Amino acid sequence: MIKFSDVLVEQAYAQEIKARREFFNALALRWENEFDQGEGKSVWAEIIDLFDLKPGQVVLDAGCGSGCLIPYILERIGEEGKLIAVDISEKMLALARKKWSGPHVFFIQADVSQLGLIRLIDRLICFRLFPHLPDKRKALLSFCQYLKREGQLFIVHPASRKQVNDFHANLPTPLCRDKLPDKNEMMVLFRMAGLNIIDFWERENFYFIRAKIA
Ligand SMILES: C[S@@+](CC[C@H](N)C(=O)[O-])C[C@H]1O[C@@H](n2cnc3c(N)ncnc32)[C@H](O)[C@@H]1O
Repeated sequence: MIKFSDVLVEQAYAQEIKARREFFNALALRWENEFDQGEGKSVWAEIIDLFDLKPGQVVLDAGCGSGCLIPYILERIGEEGKLIAVDISEKMLALARKKWSGPHVFFIQADVSQLGLIRLIDRLICFRLFPHLPDKRKALLSFCQYLKREGQLFIVHPASRKQVNDFHANLPTPLCRDKLPDKNEMMVLFRMAGLNIIDFWERENFYFIRAKIA
């Protein structure tokens, strides 16, 4: 039997997703012009090295935005690889689609926590996404299902946790609540989802997590 409290939780979750979709739709063009460029793009080329990408892999670019990582991922996974680029914002996806296409790129407008993928993904990349996921436990449980047994999950920000959280604190509600949890909370969230953090570093201008199925 469906419980009334579950229906309320689902409705609240749907509202959270809708608010972020509207926010990022409104931001899309500005995002592409101001945040997609990565100081001459060399920064993205360096970041891509962290993901240990290989020809033939299946990669999920979660919250791909206007697609700043897409050309670098495609270059690494080659013709035999597949890239699934997911975003809730149709405006962000439209910008990404305009730039990159091909038989091995799949654009999907969806909440990345609610994809029906089972043991399909070699590399799951959350670049500047994680704080925006309203239910982090649900997201990580899904990510654990999407990953192949030897797959890897990455949470990456070219900024410190403090910089990310301070920046979001000045955004309108509900985005002002979008935070990167501290290390202890992350460890618990990952463990509860069946994931092991194998690399975790926070630097002055960088935040990096690599995880695998436990
Ligand atoms: C801060 S932007 C980062 C975009 C891109 N990864 C980059 O670094 O340029 C966050 C992106 O995640 C998307 N997003 C937010 N919540 C999402 C969700 N639940 N599922 C899929 N995409 C989501 C937003 O629409 C937005 O495009």
